[in-house]
Parts: sequence; C-alpha cells; structure tokens
Amino acid sequence: MERTLSIIKPDAVAKGVIGKILDRFESNGLKIAATRKMQLSRADAEAFYAAHSERSFFNDLVDFMVSGPVVVSVLEGENAMKINRDLMGATNPKEAEAGTIRADFAENIDANAVHGSDSLESAAIEIAFFFSQREIS
Ligand code: CMP
Repeated sequence: MERTLSIIKPDAVAKGVIGKILDRFESNGLKIAATRKMQLSRADAEAFYAAHSERSFFNDLVDFMVSGPVVVSVLEGENAMKINRDLMGATNPKEAEAGTIRADFAENIDANAVHGSDSLESAAIEIAFFFSQREIS
C-alpha cells in the first residue's frame, strides 16, 4: 500500500473540474485518504517547490501556484504513486497521452492542472508538508 500527494492546481480549480479529477482517482482504485481546498501563500509555494528554485521557470511557477486556490489530497492504494502519474500524463499537456488528466484539462506546462509526487521519497515529504497524521485515514 502506497500514499502519494496530488495537487489540483489553480487552473483546474478555476475551471470547475475538481470533482471530475477526484473521480479519475477513485475510478482507478485510488482512495482519497485526505483532501483540502486551500490558498497557498508565496512562502508555501516557494517551500513546496524548493527543489526547482534554481530553474528558470521557478518564479512563474510560484506566481501561478498562488494565483488561486488549490486542492491538496493524499491518494492511497497499491502502486498509488505510479498510477497517479499515469493518470496525470506528461508534464507538458501537449505531450500528454489522450485520456489523461493533463490532455483533457490542462492548457500549457505552467497551467498543467495537477501535480503528483514523482517518487515515494518525495511523496512522504510532500504529504508531511500539507497534512498531519491525524488528518489521513
Ligand atoms: P509539477 O509536477 O507541479 O512540478 C513542477 C512544475 O513546474 C511542473 O509541474 C510544471 O507545471 C512547471 N514547469 C514549468 N516549466 C517547466 C519545465 N520546463 N520543466 C518541468 N516543469 C516545468
């Protein structure tokens, strides 16, 4: 059994597709072990994406992530990390396979609808960033 972190980003929240995206998770065997809609502060976004702080896109990424509310969730299930990444599709929606969340709901590489942990190590860190143990069940 694995846990991974999902973020429904401001573009997808603004489009009104929170329910459609959560349904993709549940319909594909992932349990929503915790979820919360929230507005990230700039400090939140900078800390969450600290690994990308030297990248050219960092400031645009932070600007985008604070541009509106997000939905953070813990997804749980067998192979949850990989299943979530397969459901999301490629980071750049133009390269995402048909039927994936990014192909269906994302506009471009910044406004790409969802984030998902890219390893079990990142998942543990990212889950702890947003949720305490007692919020996950
Ligand atoms: P995410 O999975 O949230 O992780 C970092 C984000 O940076 C990524 O999705 C993209 O939305 C954004 N990003 C913007 N430009 C790039 C890029 N060239 N390579 C990777 N990620 C990028």
